[in-house]
Amino acid sequence: MEGNPDDAQGQAFTPLERFVMELFRVISPNGGSISAMEEVRPPPYERHGYVVSPHTTTSLDPIHWTNPQAFDPDRYKAAPTSVEIDEAKCKEIGFAKCPFSSEPFEVKDGRKGAIDNSGFGTVFGVVDGKPLPVCDYAGFAPFGFGCRRCPGKQLTIQVFEDFLRKVWNSGIEFHKLDVVDPEPLPIGPTTVIADNVGFVRRA
Ligand code: HEM
Repeated sequence: MEGNPDDAQGQAFTPLERFVMELFRVISPNGGSISAMEEVRPPPYERHGYVVSPHTTTSLDPIHWTNPQAFDPDRYKAAPTSVEIDEAKCKEIGFAKCPFSSEPFEVKDGRKGAIDNSGFGTVFGVVDGKPLPVCDYAGFAPFGFGCRRCPGKQLTIQVFEDFLRKVWNSGIEFHKLDVVDPEPLPIGPTTVIADNVGFVRRA
């Protein structure tokens, strides 16, 4: 990437935000979610139905992108954002509309802000009447997709943007340490890494 990482240049997302989004798409820390289904009529025998949303597989499916395996932050330049996804768009695509009300929650402390949700149920902020963009495309699924999608997506992306900005501005470099038998370090519900990563600050 070249130029100012925080200058969106009229696009929905800044270059840094696109970069972090692409990291999440290809790494997908949460590989899938399970939702229990409710029976619509008494079942003939005791059974339990579940829907699995495979986040990694969805994000890497060629049905959504022509080059899903490529690391390409610019793919989000053309992806739809939540404010564009209304009921008409859901019908056009053939996806079920989110069952939640589309009434925004207004902030009650005098600021002009609200939390809204798209036709698919994607949560997005509205500040001073301006909708903040959230990529509302099934090909970007590390935070799930649809009405149970992670409402913490925007916060998480921005935390990682801040982290990378700090790393870059402070000249921090990460190095693999030459440790014999490094201790296994759990860093997530299903991820364990070797505790052998250190960092130095460039002089
Ligand atoms: C690495 C960071 C994170 C990842 C990868 C992640 C991913 C996910 C995924 C995949 C889901 C399930 C979506 C589905 O069922 O289809 C989810 C749900 C949820 N996430 Fe996150 N999340 C992250 C951080 C956060 C943060 C920081 C918050 C809160 C500040 C948050 C709040 C929630 C909540 C409340 C739900 C449940 C939504 C619902 O069931 O309606 N998440 N998240």
